[in-house]
Amino acid sequence: MADRHAVRGVILAGGLGKRLAPLTRVTNKHLLPIYNRPMIFYPIETLVKAGIRDILIVTGGTSSGDFLRLMGNGRDFGLEHITYAYQEGEGGIAAALSIAENFARGEKLVVILGDNIVEDTIAPYVEDFRRQPRGAKILLKEVDDPGRFGVVTFEGDRIVEIQEKPRVPASRFAVTGIYMYDGEVFDIVRDLKPSGRGELEITDVNTAYLRMGCLTFDILKGFWSDAGTFDSLLRANTLIAERVHGQPARVEP
Ligand code: G1P
Repeated sequence: MADRHAVRGVILAGGLGKRLAPLTRVTNKHLLPIYNRPMIFYPIETLVKAGIRDILIVTGGTSSGDFLRLMGNGRDFGLEHITYAYQEGEGGIAAALSIAENFARGEKLVVILGDNIVEDTIAPYVEDFRRQPRGAKILLKEVDDPGRFGVVTFEGDRIVEIQEKPRVPASRFAVTGIYMYDGEVFDIVRDLKPSGRGELEITDVNTAYLRMGCLTFDILKGFWSDAGTFDSLLRANTLIAERVHGQPARVEP
């Protein structure tokens, strides 16, 4: 039987990283450096700091074997179990997530996109989600360029809609790539239809939970960045360099 309080972690690190070509022609985006460490180390650390010891990494594209060489059995990160899965081709984030069904065993999941770099600990949000009877939780961040992301529409302090990369964003609150789901998520993914860009969208999964009235949210306070474009990759590098040095990074003339 599923343990009501167990939460397992899933890192989605597949995709072809097309927006970062040619950096991603011979390697996977999530192996690229974020300042002094490979990108994939950051989401692992985010999950470990939230008390998650059992994670699945979904890779794909080129270089998937390198993840095993890099992380091995995960003990160096404080993990008890690390499982690797391979996604054929591209089908969207929700399609990648569907690979995690056996791993999940009906328990709750914290899902993090492998290119999401977050400063805050997510431990309190995961703790709240452990106690949430059912449904999903998303984490939001106020950003200057919401049109690049999933964006929420608020009515008062309630989310009433989530739009994927809207041309005219209804708010400045982006949906970050950190999602918490109960075991129902896989039934929801099975019912999804591909979007205009031919993908199974994670925004449609979150919208399904919103319609069922069981989507909660929290707002991240510290920095958050994805790293899937040249500019966001640079930004993530700068943010981490500043954190490592404890001050704005200096570029020597
Ligand atoms: C994906 C999601 C988007 C979310 C973003 C966060 O976008 O589709 O809703 O805001 O991740 O990183 P992508 O980076 O795949 O364009």
